[in-house]
Amino acid sequence: MSPKAKRVFYCTECGNETPKWQGQCSACGAWNTIVEQPAELTAKGSASPRRTSPGRGLNRPKAIRDVETTDELRFNTGMAELDRVLGGGAVKGSLVLVGGAPGIGKSTLMLQICDSLCRFANVLYVSGEESQRQIKLRAERLKVRGEGLYLLSETNLDDVIESVNQLKPDVLIVDSIQTMYSGDGAASPGSVGQVKECAMALMQLAKGQGITVFVIGHINKEGSLAGPKVLEHMVDCVLYFEGEEHMSHRILRAAKNRFGATNEIGVFEMGDEGLTEVPNPSEALLSGRPQDTPGTCVTCVMEGARPVLAEIQALVVPSSYGNARRTSNGFDYNRAVLLLAVLEKRGGLMVNGCDAYLNVIGGLWVGEPAADLAAIIALASSFRDKNVPGDLAAVGEVGLTGELRSVNSLSQRLAEIQRLGFTKCLVPARSHGKVVAPAGLQLIRVHNIREALAAVL
Ligand code: TYD
Ligand code: MG
Repeated sequence: MSPKAKRVFYCTECGNETPKWQGQCSACGAWNTIVEQPAELTAKGSASPRRTSPGRGLNRPKAIRDVETTDELRFNTGMAELDRVLGGGAVKGSLVLVGGAPGIGKSTLMLQICDSLCRFANVLYVSGEESQRQIKLRAERLKVRGEGLYLLSETNLDDVIESVNQLKPDVLIVDSIQTMYSGDGAASPGSVGQVKECAMALMQLAKGQGITVFVIGHINKEGSLAGPKVLEHMVDCVLYFEGEEHMSHRILRAAKNRFGATNEIGVFEMGDEGLTEVPNPSEALLSGRPQDTPGTCVTCVMEGARPVLAEIQALVVPSSYGNARRTSNGFDYNRAVLLLAVLEKRGGLMVNGCDAYLNVIGGLWVGEPAADLAAIIALASSFRDKNVPGDLAAVGEVGLTGELRSVNSLSQRLAEIQRLGFTKCLVPARSHGKVVAPAGLQLIRVHNIREALAAVL
């Protein structure tokens, strides 16, 4: 008889394995997420025959000078905004994870790119969520032409792989990784073990046969993909599709890209006929901006090579409890707290006893210090209940002494600010390089936040 089977536990949030059950995962800190992995899966997993790469023979070390470095083969997906985020088109034989909350538009985006992909490639769209009929109806609504597009409604990944071997598509879309299972299905689809196994099989399809694989992954409430770490490590690119439920704008960003930069964003708008690209995000993000109200200021951030205008809103109200509340949305929390402290100490505004809320409109995430000054202005404007002029924007990093520091690509930002009809812009008095102010835009040069507040509020 075999010795007592080894028991393995893992966390359903992060995939961390432990030899014994615990109430809290020691890796990610989540509570009540440790479950036991079924015994067969553990035993089988250790001797999985698919760990070798079929069709590729034995991998041997190669001298670095013999490794070919011809550029990777890229093709356009037909959505310039998606191509931009991928780093200039999709790479042949890459595995791309498209993550996002349920209902954000991942399936729609993938189905829409089929329209142009299937003009030059064979595309297999596998859905574990919808029937072929449902997908066809949706494709018709999205005006996706169908030649060269094949649909498969399947959740067993081994059957999917068999179809791939028969059809030999150039592009494979899997909707979604959480509905797929591999092997005998002992572990339920979506569990970390299954997600891992399926991702590995898809990786082998991509690398072994040169198929470009897009795999959709749902994000749970806490903002992580089920088994996120496992997936993110394995794939070549991780794209996140984000947006606010009540708004029609969607932002696609790369969290990881083995073939390009991760700072580009793609902007889309969800309408009756699916997603349309928004080539001028600034206009879209500023539409509906409140006029003549305190607590809002516009800035310009660089998203990759592209300047994008963002509206920062703030609400500062006297705190009714002992400790003041601070929240931020779309803006780094620690940075927001730091700016409030600077505003109190260097700007002379007594915000210490106030609740403060900071929000970036349109689902944009602003991670650049260049947005500091606009945040300061918005906070001060709300605190003093005084309007910021509607035609004013602000760009500049704020230091701990309240001084304004120069930012990169200032000329580019100013050009975009002027293009959107602003006539005044607060900028740091000192900036490196020559700053060209576009015609029609008045620069208000300030040394520190006191000067900035005096100039506009
Ligand atoms: P979907 O692509 O199914 O989301 P996901 O795959 O990320 O879960 O998008 C579904 C949502 O998009 C749904 O709430 C309806 C909306 N939608 C539109 O507004 N217009 C459209 O043309 C389509 C196809 C969907
Ligand atoms: Mg879907």
